[in-house]
Amino acid sequence: MPVISGKAPGKIILFGEHAVVYGHPAIAIPVNKVKATAHVFPSIGTPPGAIRIQAPDIELDADVTNLPQDHPLASAVRLTLAAVEISQPPSLNIQIASSIPLAAGMGSSAAISVAICRGLSAFLGHPLTNPQINQIAFEVEKIHHGTPSGIDNHVIAYEQPIYFIKDEPVELLTIKTSTHWVIADSGEKTPTRETVADVRKRYLAEPQHYQALFEAIGSVTERARLALSEGDLPALGILMKENQALLEALDVSSTRLENLIHAANTAGALGAKLSGGGRGGNMIALAPPDQTDNIVQALKDAGAVHTITTRLNQSEGA
Ligand code: PMV
Repeated sequence: MPVISGKAPGKIILFGEHAVVYGHPAIAIPVNKVKATAHVFPSIGTPPGAIRIQAPDIELDADVTNLPQDHPLASAVRLTLAAVEISQPPSLNIQIASSIPLAAGMGSSAAISVAICRGLSAFLGHPLTNPQINQIAFEVEKIHHGTPSGIDNHVIAYEQPIYFIKDEPVELLTIKTSTHWVIADSGEKTPTRETVADVRKRYLAEPQHYQALFEAIGSVTERARLALSEGDLPALGILMKENQALLEALDVSSTRLENLIHAANTAGALGAKLSGGGRGGNMIALAPPDQTDNIVQALKDAGAVHTITTRLNQSEGA
């Protein structure tokens, strides 16, 4: 039996992080330049049903049955087996490889879950649909992050730009004009679970103040959806700046992120903001196509440990 590989892209949030946890909209896009892959192949000479999972990036090499019930990768395997209704699979190996930076707000955990579900279900002859894969990845995200909004698993499972409201059907975005983006890693690990818990604590202490901030972020996201559908890039840039100011008011920014954002704006970006949980991880800048190289250089000079450029293509027929 040949090797079957399940793949999934990284992701980046353009607008609406944190507010999305409280029912406001957010916008996210897949980032295809980075990806997670799960190679699934038969294991020879091991007892039937043995599933060995290897993920060198996190120093994991174990039999799934020996991993705790709430282990995220083992959970992705178990939930996939339940979804395809196979309790006694042939013995097999799952090898995970990923170029998505870990704990940097680019969806590495959701991408690994999606890659496992895709690869394993296809290997077993019952390829799961995107909605099924999305549901499994969401269950695993709960183990990672406690109370995730679900945006990561959606954008990664569907591999499309999305407008997302928690617990509502996902909406694929219409993009009028292709846009160019530069993503830069601050080098600080983003503790999403902690920033989300911290924002919740503050919200519970001062609900009206935080509700107003979340609503303002939701309104920026709505206007950004319109700007994307009209191809109004200057407006989109201004909205990124507005969103960043609101994230600073939520206290999820950091000096390093703000230095990178300033460097990108000074080098000609139309706008820039942190992306994801914040207090580290990545920032993203909207680049006029002829300024992309300048912006990348300015971000490296300002201390970015890694940059990725990505293009969001115009929707078909837009
Ligand atoms: O750090 P990331 O990219 O996983 O993003 C977290 C986004 C939050 O809105 C802060 C949390 C969530 O579950 O949506």
